[in-house]
Amino acid sequence: MSSLFPVPQLSPRVTEQGTQLFLENVSLNGLAKQFGTPLYVYSQAQLLADWAAWQYPEDQVPERNIHVCYAVKACSNLSVLRLFAERGAFFDTVSEGEIARALAAGAPANRVVFSGVAKSEREITFALAQGIFCFNAESAAELERLNEIALRMGKRAPISLRVNPDVDAKTHPYISTGLRGNKFGIAHTDALAVYQRAASLPGLDVIGIDYHIGSQITELSPFLDAQNRLFELVRQLRAVGIELTHIDLGGGLGVRYRDETPPAPRELIEQSLKGLRDAGFAHDLLFEPGRSLVANSCVLLTQVEYLKHNDDKNFAIVDAGMNDFIRPALYEAWVGVENCTVHDDVPAQVYDVVGPVCESSDWLALDRSLNVKQGDVLAVLSAGAYGFSMSSNYNTRTRPAEVLVDGADARVIRRREVLTELWAHEV
Ligand code: LLP
Repeated sequence: MSSLFPVPQLSPRVTEQGTQLFLENVSLNGLAKQFGTPLYVYSQAQLLADWAAWQYPEDQVPERNIHVCYAVKACSNLSVLRLFAERGAFFDTVSEGEIARALAAGAPANRVVFSGVAKSEREITFALAQGIFCFNAESAAELERLNEIALRMGKRAPISLRVNPDVDAKTHPYISTGLRGNKFGIAHTDALAVYQRAASLPGLDVIGIDYHIGSQITELSPFLDAQNRLFELVRQLRAVGIELTHIDLGGGLGVRYRDETPPAPRELIEQSLKGLRDAGFAHDLLFEPGRSLVANSCVLLTQVEYLKHNDDKNFAIVDAGMNDFIRPALYEAWVGVENCTVHDDVPAQVYDVVGPVCESSDWLALDRSLNVKQGDVLAVLSAGAYGFSMSSNYNTRTRPAEVLVDGADARVIRRREVLTELWAHEV
């Protein structure tokens, strides 16, 4: 399996056995044959390993609770949510739908955090009725709405304010959220006044502070810069008599797609704890990881429909398109692509791996050296985060099935859509 770019390793649970790639103890070619392609396949062992990497021994933090709030948007499949829910996860959600999903997967409402810049009346009413843990409010206007609805319902809304710390997360601009020009959160400079207003509203219970500065962050420094900015505010709030019970340091921890070396969750937690201790803070600590809990557990299987040679370009045309996996088209994201069959008799050639959708941006990988034949199944690696959850029906294409592998077992956790479902709501 040569590649023009060195691939330091396959996905953690993908191994070469004989002439085939396996995920855990299951042949990927076998799965493609059994369930069809395109197909999202998750490794339960890796999901659990990634969950375990975020756990911090309780006896080492007697002074506070640490809650890991899985960001549902990264991969919202009920079976994946359930795996985390059963292990005590909190959930970071951004819509009524995500809250309902977390509840359907067995999460108690008091482990749900509700983020997002545009929470509607209906969504707030729903979340309040359920009794969620905290609203991560993103504007002064949202606080007024939260207060009104809570009073109307005879409740108090637990709130945290998302503060925009104005730090550079050093990631792709489309997934950077903590800079002054972003739509997210409340400006650091306005935060104190907005907190004071919130504290004066009888329908609100001010319990926390949060930020989220971006995604696929591969260095510690942006997190630490943002934390320090947040801690300044916590001190200022204290000085005016506003005591919080938790600090939510958001998500954003990156993963290895190619050669990145992101800090381990443990390192981030330890550095954050150090910062809190140095500041003399005993607040509970929340994190909202999405990608780092699911990205590396999954491969997207896709079959090569045709090989085509145009002028000086070779194309491997596959059956997964940007509607199935949009990250390359949207962010020019680099993902590993490997042939599930190891051929010694096929010479390597450099290909663009492109999909069936009628858009020039419909590619999965560019300039990759592959030993590939028509009919081969390719594995797109590290497809678990923002993969299926960002899929669509563009070009009237049914979305893929999802399969969960556990050892030698594989079971469908979302069946493939059928065409009639795609126009079932139309007249
Ligand atoms: N918390 C909040 C408030 C968020 O907005 C996000 C992600 C997360 C947590 C989880 O971030 P993570 O740990 O996954 O980086 N579709 C893009 C990523 C968008 C992230 C949006 N917000 C991608 O495919 O790269």
